[in-house]
Amino acid sequence: MLHSLRSTRFAPAIVGLAAALMIGLASPATAQQSPAGGALARVLVLGTGGTIAGQANARAGNAYDSGKVSAANLIAAIPGIDQLAQISAEQISSIGSQDMNDKVWFDLVKRIRAAIDNKEVDGVVITHGTDTMEETAFFLQNVLDTDIPVVLVGSMRPSTAIGADGPANLYDAMRVASAPESRGRGVLVVLNDTIHGARWVQKTNTTSVQTFRSPDAGPVGYVDTGSLRFLAAAPTKGAKLKLPDAPPLPRVDIIYSHANMDAAEVEDAVKRGAKGIVLAGVGDGNSSKGAIDALASAAKQGVVVVRSTRVGSGYVNRNVEVEDDKLGFAVALDLNPQKARVLLALLIANGITDPKAVQQAYAQP
Ligand code: DGL
Repeated sequence: MLHSLRSTRFAPAIVGLAAALMIGLASPATAQQSPAGGALARVLVLGTGGTIAGQANARAGNAYDSGKVSAANLIAAIPGIDQLAQISAEQISSIGSQDMNDKVWFDLVKRIRAAIDNKEVDGVVITHGTDTMEETAFFLQNVLDTDIPVVLVGSMRPSTAIGADGPANLYDAMRVASAPESRGRGVLVVLNDTIHGARWVQKTNTTSVQTFRSPDAGPVGYVDTGSLRFLAAAPTKGAKLKLPDAPPLPRVDIIYSHANMDAAEVEDAVKRGAKGIVLAGVGDGNSSKGAIDALASAAKQGVVVVRSTRVGSGYVNRNVEVEDDKLGFAVALDLNPQKARVLLALLIANGITDPKAVQQAYAQP
């Protein structure tokens, strides 16, 4: 269902002391001027679902259903957010992000590109489940070519929970998306007062509100109700690849490496028709002899093979224990398996399958 609140200024649904405090912090002096000349930056909020839009259900004390509350209603419940930007909200999907898929990704790109082409917006906020937020952020980074801030935001607690973190996160995301200093920094992820870059951010904890970290680079900035600070880290741009006219992207499977591993998983992926395989390898992207031999044979048959690691941080290096040059593999460097999968699907969709060209794309910051 599409909820549209375009050009609507939101009246706070919650009043009282909290509202007074928030409005006090977001005084007009802190509001962002629109580069287009309006009083406030214009921010388009695209809802996709997730815990931030979750509602408690009767299954158990802590049970909830993702994606039940529209982005428009989430915003309407945050006192003072209308002091930060002229906000419009639309619903792209209402799903838990475990169900995130190519169709929603393509719909997001289409809507964002239209908003940019029509000069409708100065910033975009996407509400999203945290489970696959890093994949959506990295996908967008590699296909959107814009300086406009695109900010993904979610929460670890549903909107009905005691101590729900969604409203503060959404407020922070709005502050980032509406700020001129956020331009040209690639796609960003905002949670728990912290701003991350799409290339580096990872969900690292199943339940903690401090779940997002960027193990190989650190955050790119910090935001709270009173301030926005970017660190010196250079913004990443992404590969800027073309998106095919319609989904799906080519099939790329992730194979998780483990002790006692044989060739079966790799052979099954090839049988299933995988055009690419990302190895979530042990250590420096390694695997058993059986699995590496099967990957070498898959590469010979034209399947693009990229080695990443299950470790959670660090770079995968070429030709250390595995002879990448000889076997025709690329390595994912600092990209975790799930992001390496996104990039590989886009590369194959763009006809980039030669291991050397694939390797270059992984090195593109
Ligand atoms: N179902 C998960 C999702 O939508 C919950 C995690 C979350 O959103 O925080 O990603």
